[in-house]
Amino acid sequence: MTIKAVVFDAYGTLYDVQSVADVAEQCFPGHGDVITQIWRLKQLEYTWLRSLMERYEDFTTVTRESLVFTLRSLGLAQEPAVVARLMERYLRLDPYPDAGSTLAALGRYQRAILSNGSPAMLKALVKATGLNQLLDATISVDARKVFKPSPLAYTLIEQVLGTPPAEVLFVSSNPFDVCGAKSFGLNVAWIERVPAAALVQDLAQRDRIAPRTLFNILRAQPEELGFAPDYRVSALADLPAIVAG
Ligand code: LAC
Repeated sequence: MTIKAVVFDAYGTLYDVQSVADVAEQCFPGHGDVITQIWRLKQLEYTWLRSLMERYEDFTTVTRESLVFTLRSLGLAQEPAVVARLMERYLRLDPYPDAGSTLAALGRYQRAILSNGSPAMLKALVKATGLNQLLDATISVDARKVFKPSPLAYTLIEQVLGTPPAEVLFVSSNPFDVCGAKSFGLNVAWIERVPAAALVQDLAQRDRIAPRTLFNILRAQPEELGFAPDYRVSALADLPAIVAG
């Protein structure tokens, strides 16, 4: 495998979407976890629904609408100032601890993000976290007006970087994104953040399923869609060795 470009998903892969939980808990004490999980579950669901409906709105809108759904469904007030405060956290999510060092170690390859994020959200995020200095391109699906896992979204990699799918390693922790990228024809590494055994252990320790655990079942386990990744790794830091072959 000759890899020339390493392309990363953003939310959940380079950046921890769970990091909104602190502000969610401050805004709504006792509800931080459930807000965080429903918000992300619904955010992704809305990307798929809008793509199927052919009613694209960018990820800023999708993120706001899924947050409003979440607060309304939980019987919580949707005051504009609170919604704005939660939305603002999305512009400075915590990168995973090994994100910067991994991108730096991959310096001899093209390095890019391909994300559902809107151009404005992604620009703010990579700038706030300094990862912009370690990326050759930050590509938003907005240019195609459709969300991943539509094949059209993945065509942007070759269009922007000029690198064909066979020479790209696409990296995602999101199982649906892994399937979409593999179905499209990219080489794919899955970051397995929640190993199945850890999840089973978590379930065994509780008599109720916590919102975070439910999220880990629904959004962190391999999909039954028939497209397995080429590589399974436990952290971003494992990637330089894989790319070097
Ligand atoms: C993204 C979503 C899939 O960054 O997390 O594209």
